[in-house]
Parts: sequence; structure tokens; C-alpha cells
Amino acid sequence: MRLHVVDHPLVAHKLTTLRDQRTDSPTFRRLADELVTLLAYEATRDVRTERVRVTTPVAEADGVKLARPRPLVVPILRAGLGMLDGMVRLLPTAEVGFLGMVRNEDTLRPATYATRMPDDLSGRQVYVVDPMLATGGTMAAALRMLVERGATDVTALCLLAAPEGVKALEEGTAGLPVTVVTAAVDDHLNENGYIVPGLGDAGDRMYG
Ligand code: PRP
Repeated sequence: MRLHVVDHPLVAHKLTTLRDQRTDSPTFRRLADELVTLLAYEATRDVRTERVRVTTPVAEADGVKLARPRPLVVPILRAGLGMLDGMVRLLPTAEVGFLGMVRNEDTLRPATYATRMPDDLSGRQVYVVDPMLATGGTMAAALRMLVERGATDVTALCLLAAPEGVKALEEGTAGLPVTVVTAAVDDHLNENGYIVPGLGDAGDRMYG
């Protein structure tokens, strides 16, 4: 697994405001959306393109366009929905699949309650979006599901990660072509499975 922590002052600035408990839901949603576009810029560095010719008002030029098969973007409901628009704004040709998953707050184990994705992901580039990588259980289960369907190139975008989640994902995806892109790796997880210092419950802060 490759881990890419995006080190950029604008990313750090937006993340700081997201962390602030005084930030209200509308502002939180807007900032999360802006932050996604910055992370997506880094996360799509290897998105496949094909060469095209384009006619400018002056002459012919070489260019590129996003290649087929189209990339697939998969938000993990609920909180991942807040990252979807930012992703598809940068990847306008993307197809969108959905995964509904919720973490049991006692056992911290994920349960899947909705799956709407193409059955065959062979040869597809897949971008999974979920704001929080805490224990890593949710993302690991999602990545396994995608790889079982044939995905060979998967990038997970998270606003924030815990070192425990990064480690669990590293172990759970050994040998798989997985990249994780995040704005920061925080200090630790607390006994309730919350990232510390973190930003609280992203789903509640977006939609609660
Ligand atoms: C949060 C978060 C991740 C998951 C992370 O979702 O958005 O999906 O928990 O935890 P993990 O790394 O320990 O598995 P939650 O289950 O609260 O659902 P929600 O998005 O519907 O609020």
C-alpha cells in the first residue's frame, strides 16, 4: 500500500477549520468539498489518459483526454457522500457506484447495508471516498469488495486518518495495488474509536 499525505498550506488551512468544533454544518460541507478537490488533484496524478489532437484558434496541438474504461468513484455512505461532488468535478467522465456501510459503535466492526456497483471492475481505476480512516475496518472491507470484483488499481481518499487505521489497512491490503491519500495522519484512536485530535464524527457534522 502506498500512503500519500498531502502537504500543502491550503489543505492544512481547510483541515484546521474542519477540526474546529465551532464550524457549522453548511461550512463543514463546503470546506470538505473544497478539500476533496485538492486531495483529488494529487490522487488522480496517475489517472489514465489517451492522446488526442485538438484544433486551437491558431493551429493543431497535441493533447490528452480521460481514457476509457471510465474511472469509478465510490463514496462510502453516509459521510463519503460529502466528498462525491468534489471528486466528479475533477473526473467528469467518472461512473459512480455506492457503498452503504456503518460501523457498529460498540464492536467498531463495519456492516454493509447497500451495494450498487458494476459487477465487473476488471481494468478499472477506482477512487473510494470516505472522510475518516479510523480503525480502517470500513475501508479495508470496501477495498476487499472492489478487488473481489476485479479492480486492480484502487485509491482511497480520506480527509483524515489514524495511524492505527493506516497500519490495519497496510496489513489488510498486503500485495494489493492500493494507494491512500489523506490530508493528515493524526495522533491516535481513543477507546471509542474516534481519531484524536480528529474532527469528531464527520457524518454527524455534515448531515446530523
Ligand atoms: C465513519 C466514517 C467511516 C468509518 C470509519 O462512518 O465515515 O466510514 O466510520 O471507521 P473505521 O475506520 O473504524 O471503520 P460511520 O460508520 O460513522 O457512518 P456514517 O458515515 O453513516 O456516519
